[in-house]
Amino acid sequence: MFNKFFAAVALSVLSLATPNAFAQQKPVDAEGHQWWQHAVFYEIYPRSFADSNNNGVGDLNGIASKLDYLKDLGIDAIWMTPFFPSPQVDFGYDVSDYDAIDPMYGTLHDFDHLSAEAKQRNIRLILDLVVNHTSDQHPWFKESRSSRDNPRRDWYIWRDGKGPGQPPNNWLSTFGLSGWTFDPKTKQYYYHYFYPEQPDLNWRNPAVEKAMLDVTRFWYKRGVAGFRLDAVDTLFEDPALTDNPVLEGTDKFGRHNMKESYNKKLPEVHDVMRKLRNTADEYGAVLIGETWTSDVGELKDYYGSKNDELQMPMDLMMTGFKGLSADQYRKHIAAVNAAGHWPVYVITNHDIIRSYTRYSDDTHNDDIAKMMAALYLTLRGSAIMYYGEEIGMQNNDPKSKEDVQDPIGKLGWPTEKGRDGERTPMQWTAGPNAGFSEVKPWLPVPPSAITHNVASEMKDPNSIYNFYHQLLALRHTEPALLDGDWVPLNEADPNVLAYVRRYKDEAILVVLNMSATDQNVTLDYAPAGFSAPNLKVLLTSVDKSAAVSAADAIPMAPYSAYIAKLSK
Ligand code: GLC
Repeated sequence: MFNKFFAAVALSVLSLATPNAFAQQKPVDAEGHQWWQHAVFYEIYPRSFADSNNNGVGDLNGIASKLDYLKDLGIDAIWMTPFFPSPQVDFGYDVSDYDAIDPMYGTLHDFDHLSAEAKQRNIRLILDLVVNHTSDQHPWFKESRSSRDNPRRDWYIWRDGKGPGQPPNNWLSTFGLSGWTFDPKTKQYYYHYFYPEQPDLNWRNPAVEKAMLDVTRFWYKRGVAGFRLDAVDTLFEDPALTDNPVLEGTDKFGRHNMKESYNKKLPEVHDVMRKLRNTADEYGAVLIGETWTSDVGELKDYYGSKNDELQMPMDLMMTGFKGLSADQYRKHIAAVNAAGHWPVYVITNHDIIRSYTRYSDDTHNDDIAKMMAALYLTLRGSAIMYYGEEIGMQNNDPKSKEDVQDPIGKLGWPTEKGRDGERTPMQWTAGPNAGFSEVKPWLPVPPSAITHNVASEMKDPNSIYNFYHQLLALRHTEPALLDGDWVPLNEADPNVLAYVRRYKDEAILVVLNMSATDQNVTLDYAPAGFSAPNLKVLLTSVDKSAAVSAADAIPMAPYSAYIAKLSK
């Protein structure tokens, strides 16, 4: 009796402390891993996923209508880029109200519907939190710019110019102009790392911090499982406004190159990460970071010295690799694993040229897409896919300056064409507008949508889609892929990346031919604790008949992937 009473009290205390039951931190395996460590994340650009009301722009009901597709594909969580009210200068990354939905995408009711439908399918929702800046149309900024003594003046970064017509220092906006815009009304400059319509918040002001933490609480209470934190590297600036060092050469906008020593990656960023994490922990939520680290050391720092910052800082470094090199990937993956945290792999997103186009050699494009899938979806760690990767969507860059939507493309044309190319509508069918909408979509669909679309690829057993489908099924069911360590084999091979994922008695071999020529691969299994193991083929990307089932040479076609189970 007493025990029962005690248990009931304990349970109610627990549920008070963790109001968002869906996001709770409960281990999902014997290793104590959390749900997000076994999850495959899928990034959705809401403008471009599915248009339910046929106005040419995607929306929340469109996303809800595709949840069965995502579930069947093997997706556990979706990260949606911002759908909050916004003037859409940066297509949602200029937020004018953090606690509502832009009518273009739907209503809070639609959000709750999406959330409930997702929950039924055990798919978590991750929202995008634009922490560094707001829109210049946000009421906070409108107040801030209204007078020098407005109580919200110090919510943003206002400074006097150096002299008439001269900004406070030489900092540049990464989007092409100066980092400072003069406001004639109060005769001061405000700072913006991105567009002038995206003024930077002043994170040194505790009121800003409180307001943003409250935003996260608002959404946690509505059931979201976590946030992808936008542009965290740029949260702080040197209060002394020291000029950045000028470097040799010019950037894609024709400006002097600069080392961003004083307006990026300041140590104070980590204090904010810890605060966001504290709040996330109250709700059992997960934080993913847009962390543009230049090396593994910086990436490690984002986890926090006491594991008290981001659970999932994105490793975006592979997106910068030029070409395909087994050696480069091997060394990088080894370094990331050696850092001791849970890696988060990404090969493309809404700011980066699509992986299909980036790795294309015009001959083996589909094979390369499958091989890259086999790489980032069999590594130790979580993976974040980008919509359309599973069908081999390619970049569809604007053909002329007049067609460009993304302001950086207008400013930097033709060197910088902007990011429209990687944001085109999801290709659902071979029909008009790729089945995304019944009207002309906001961005054009490429001709390749005729062959590379969900409906056609579902019917083709050798499609990229079916490769992803099988790969994701393996990833969810094989203990070695979920929990195993990562052991590289044949480390001197310049063409083939081979490794074993090992968990207890389970071992899975992954062999990737990253070259354009046939490779006959004889592996030394000793580092993984095998001499001549038996191989049971689980999945191959090119020619299944070419796969062997004994531990001798493995014939690998150009850019092929081979995945097998090892046993003694
Ligand atoms: C991030 C977003 C990008 C956006 C920028 C400014 O880098 O991914 O799309 O333009 O932040 O918010």
